[in-house]
Amino acid sequence: MTETKTGQAKQTVSKSSAPRIRVGVTYYPEHWGKARLGIDIPLMREAGIQIVRMGEFAWSRLEPSEGRYDFSWLEEAVNAFGQAGISVVLGTPTAAPPAWFHQKYDVYPRDEWKRPLGFGTRLQRCLNHPVMRESSRRITEAMARHFGHNPFVEAWQTDNELTQNYCYCDYCAKAFREWLADKYGSLDNLNRAWGTVFWSQEYSDWEQIPLPWFAKCGMAHNPSLQLDYRRFQSDATVTFQQEQVNILRCLCPGQKITHNIMGLNDSMDYFALAADWDFAAWDNYPITPWGENGMRVPLGHDVTRGMKNRAFWIMEEQAGITGWEMMGPQTEPGQIRAWAWQAVSHGAETILFFRWRSCLYGTEQYWHGILNHDGVPRRHFQEVKQLAKEFGELSPFLSGAEVRSDVAIVHDADQHYGYHIQPQVRGMGLWDQILRFYTPLWRWGVNVDLVSPAADFSPYRLVILPGWYILSDEFADKVRQYVSRGGTVVMNPRTGVKNIDNVCVQIPLPGLLRDVAGITVAEYSPMAEKVGSVQFRDQNTASISVWADQLLLDTAEPFAWYRDSIYAGKPAVTCNDFGKGKAWYCGTFGDEGFYHIFLKQILNECGISSWDGLPKGTSVRTLYREGKRYTILVNLEGQEKQLSLPGDWKMLLGEQGLNTLTLKAYGIAVLESDRS
Ligand code: GLA
Ligand code: ZN
Repeated sequence: MTETKTGQAKQTVSKSSAPRIRVGVTYYPEHWGKARLGIDIPLMREAGIQIVRMGEFAWSRLEPSEGRYDFSWLEEAVNAFGQAGISVVLGTPTAAPPAWFHQKYDVYPRDEWKRPLGFGTRLQRCLNHPVMRESSRRITEAMARHFGHNPFVEAWQTDNELTQNYCYCDYCAKAFREWLADKYGSLDNLNRAWGTVFWSQEYSDWEQIPLPWFAKCGMAHNPSLQLDYRRFQSDATVTFQQEQVNILRCLCPGQKITHNIMGLNDSMDYFALAADWDFAAWDNYPITPWGENGMRVPLGHDVTRGMKNRAFWIMEEQAGITGWEMMGPQTEPGQIRAWAWQAVSHGAETILFFRWRSCLYGTEQYWHGILNHDGVPRRHFQEVKQLAKEFGELSPFLSGAEVRSDVAIVHDADQHYGYHIQPQVRGMGLWDQILRFYTPLWRWGVNVDLVSPAADFSPYRLVILPGWYILSDEFADKVRQYVSRGGTVVMNPRTGVKNIDNVCVQIPLPGLLRDVAGITVAEYSPMAEKVGSVQFRDQNTASISVWADQLLLDTAEPFAWYRDSIYAGKPAVTCNDFGKGKAWYCGTFGDEGFYHIFLKQILNECGISSWDGLPKGTSVRTLYREGKRYTILVNLEGQEKQLSLPGDWKMLLGEQGLNTLTLKAYGIAVLESDRS
């Protein structure tokens, strides 16, 4: 517990919010006024809401004119919630600067044509603009001074859904050139690293270096420049956040800091952004008007948990129909509860629904809250109430329980950027590559960590490197050591194609990992949607598409062979003993059956158990705590399901059949068993 001036009050909140698995909401007091607070707070208490997020878009009310701050209305709300036992997350409001600010200062980002964006939505600011930076520090500091010792403020959210600073303004150009000068030291080094001799692009003055501005006839800029531009703009966002974090750390002792990421958004380096948080959080919308996110939901949970490798929050959880101009489907009875439990089963500890009540005006009128526009509690309210009650009852078991994984999938921003800059062939995006492995593992109930290349690999029996395209010497060495000491890795096509400057290596592929893989890629064939097939060692066959590497065996053994195309009869998948470990090289992309055979073989060899025969659409995750294991089953579909589960377990939540377990439509079961 933190000592504060009003330490007593802090204790009140902490006590009342004792269960760590809890439900919250986003609330906008500036949309509803003081009177409604008196109705909403009792309703929230009835629903079991324990935390609210506020303030993240309220700049025009917090600083109505330059330098004139008004925190009274927010403070009133914070205190009213706090006194009701509901703690608060405050957002810095920098994702939506007010009209007076833009009238005075031109901080609008420029697009690739150098056209300024205008006022009227949000995010209309360049994060490299000195005035934007200064104003961000100013409003953050003013808020931090005001609320830094408020006993009811538990945490801060920096800005909102930060991404790469997509901007091509003169400030960005200047900052980019400085960033490059700092990185390369001299133009000679930069010219050499980027290979600017191509198309007469050698630079003799830093001022000559362009941003990847719009180019004639869709011509692409140098891939090395594009990679550095993305890294630079990602760094700009990280620095922008860091300036806020430095102020908050200094003025808000005892209050935590986080940010709401967009799960699988890969425009920037989230791992770098995460370095400044106390815990990770993301915004989870499983069904929007633009479609269902399906496997991207559990993957988003694991990606977010991987940011800090510990319990995370859902800062925005879908509360009902989503949509701006168009609406997605209504959520079915039990569905929002199921999504929330699914999040917990992946290691989430606090779930804030977005939002408490549907807004009457503005762009997001149809992004529905727990309450609809009329503010009357109905079905969604009852569902949240039930959820909060269950979280309370199960917290003694589940709070502090951890995900433990034998499998890691490694990803980083450079790989994402690399495939965005040059997708090479349809179907080879990095998330697609990850999902090919992740989906069957998820279906078999195998816990997976999504980790950065800097992670310690030693706790994992299996490390999957999907498309490690831009390969550094250090990372190749790390993988080599991990395998030689007994680890197992899986590599995909396009491993080691580029050096860290996004330049093709001039050694045979898979480049720096060729010795570990024990094969040489003799040639390759981009296939896109064209379908071929392979035969496995056990005679089973499966379909392939997207890409085919023709592999020469150096020291590896073949595990599957191409059956058709110009590579018929040649190895497609191989396995190499390297030191005490094993390296699998998969030269192609397969269908579901392909990964079933391939991954089951690897799991068996690694001694990793997996679950067979789970009904489709059932999520099974395992958490561990003090000698116990907690299996959380979630039916993500509207049809009842029967399962038979081996072993001795005690049911903490759910409905038990005689020898089977019944999962009703969107039903949940939580089982406790001894750790084995
Ligand atoms: C995002 C934002 C929210 C809101 C929702 C719904 O997740 O963080 O402010 O805009 O989407 O559109
Ligand atoms: Zn800019």
